[in-house]
Amino acid sequence: MKITIIGTGYVGLVTGACLAELGNDVFCLDVDERKIAMLNAGGIPIHEPGLEEVVARNRAAGRLQFSTDIAASVAHGTLQFIAVGTPPDEDGSADLQYVLAAAKSIGRHMTEFKVIVDKSTVPVGTADRVKAAVQAELDARAEGAKFSVVSNPEFLKEGAAVEDFMRPDRIVIGCDSSAEGSRAHGLMKKLYMPFNRNHERTFWMDVRSAEFTKYAANAMLATRISFMNELANLADQVGADIEAVRHGIGSDPRIGHSFLYAGAGYGGSCFPKDVQALERTARQYDQDLLILRAVEAVNDKQKLVLGQKVAKRFGADLSGKHFAVWGLAFKPNTDDMREAPARVLLKQLLDGGATVAVYDPVAMAEAKRVLALDFDAEQLARVRFASSPMDTLTGAEALVIVTEWKAFRSPDFDRIKAALKQAVIFDGRNLFEPQVMAEAGFEYHGIGRSV
Ligand code: NAD
Ligand code: UGA
Repeated sequence: MKITIIGTGYVGLVTGACLAELGNDVFCLDVDERKIAMLNAGGIPIHEPGLEEVVARNRAAGRLQFSTDIAASVAHGTLQFIAVGTPPDEDGSADLQYVLAAAKSIGRHMTEFKVIVDKSTVPVGTADRVKAAVQAELDARAEGAKFSVVSNPEFLKEGAAVEDFMRPDRIVIGCDSSAEGSRAHGLMKKLYMPFNRNHERTFWMDVRSAEFTKYAANAMLATRISFMNELANLADQVGADIEAVRHGIGSDPRIGHSFLYAGAGYGGSCFPKDVQALERTARQYDQDLLILRAVEAVNDKQKLVLGQKVAKRFGADLSGKHFAVWGLAFKPNTDDMREAPARVLLKQLLDGGATVAVYDPVAMAEAKRVLALDFDAEQLARVRFASSPMDTLTGAEALVIVTEWKAFRSPDFDRIKAALKQAVIFDGRNLFEPQVMAEAGFEYHGIGRSV
């Protein structure tokens, strides 16, 4: 099938590359000329395991092309996926300017039937706005081409995006019941056929329910995390181990084990903005989503917990003190630092007057870019970008772990102890066992593990 993807970011690039892998003829469009030039030169703008190979293979096979040519992109695909960003606007609602600009550009150039697929995470009712934007452009040109707008939200996780896309738990598709809608239904069914060979994974529904499902899923996952983080803080006070509690409750199949890890708070480009956007949608209908407000508030507080533990141990004035920080990306296997808890920790340490040495296996370049925006020159001068985990440690009062990269899970504790000024570890991802750490001679501060 001929497919156009508008927006070649995390979701667009993965969607385009994976659909090409299945034999489709995919045209990826972006307004970012540098990104497209990089992709056309064989580069990959993001770190995502397995993606480079899929992109290279499909470019070589001539099934995947990258361009900034809007007219050519609209002409190419019968299916036009919109996969542009939906960042929060000033009040936390999803900013639809990029989605609507993409819709307009389709309407401005299309001359034959198109299925417009909302892949971006968009509030309930957005498909109607996309439809109106496209129709307005068609009307302005007196062009009578037909189209249908479909909702097909994406559930991939960064760091496992290719795997998630190729082996989805579910595919959610919302179509309307018009003649164009049933034509779109047929094309979407054909497109996703390869994913449904062994068993049916597609959930067909109306457009608004599909849009809502995406927010409901992210809100539920964020709720589980904030719930566990709040319990972890209590566990710290009452002397219980949140990891034991996690096992104890997760074994109940009604609860399940996933997404119950207490830590330094959830980050990334999605949970924070999607929880906010759902709350804002509710407000438009005079509803106050109390649970989600609490989820957001708990997460904002949780991002401060590691730094507060450091301040409790070393005092609020950290001037003259040096700290080692492992992990900057918002989660492992990505270089994405959007809303990363490490940014909050670094602010606390630098505001306290400390110097820091930081290391992340893949996010160092992104960290340099992002921290230059977060901090002024004086504060930045107190950050050293180290060349390895061990390179962060010399002379540090303590090691602070923010991201659970595999490479941090079995370090040489003797070397860590020898390099640190004091054998103190603050572990924002509960990588180690408190008792083992105590036996190894460390003062160990996990999250919710003060047994
Ligand atoms: P991103 O910022 O990585 O990529 C968006 C891309 O769209 C950018 O390259 C930008 O230049 C491009 N763009 C903006 N306006 C354009 C236009 N008019 N025409 C062509 N290109 C345009 O964003 P992302 O992380 O891929 O997220 C995209 C959407 O998918 C968001 O709604 C997000 O919530 C959702 N989502 C993201 C993930 C994830 O893991 N990142 C997972 C599921 C859903
Ligand atoms: C999340 C969802 O998991 C995806 O299904 C969804 O498609 C995506 O958002 C989206 O809509 O964009 P992602 O943000 O890539 O994916 O990463 P997650 O693995 O969900 O982690 C998000 C944050 O939660 C990370 O900071 C992680 O450290 C934190 N987390 C996760 C916890 O603190 N505890 C957990 O138990 C799990």
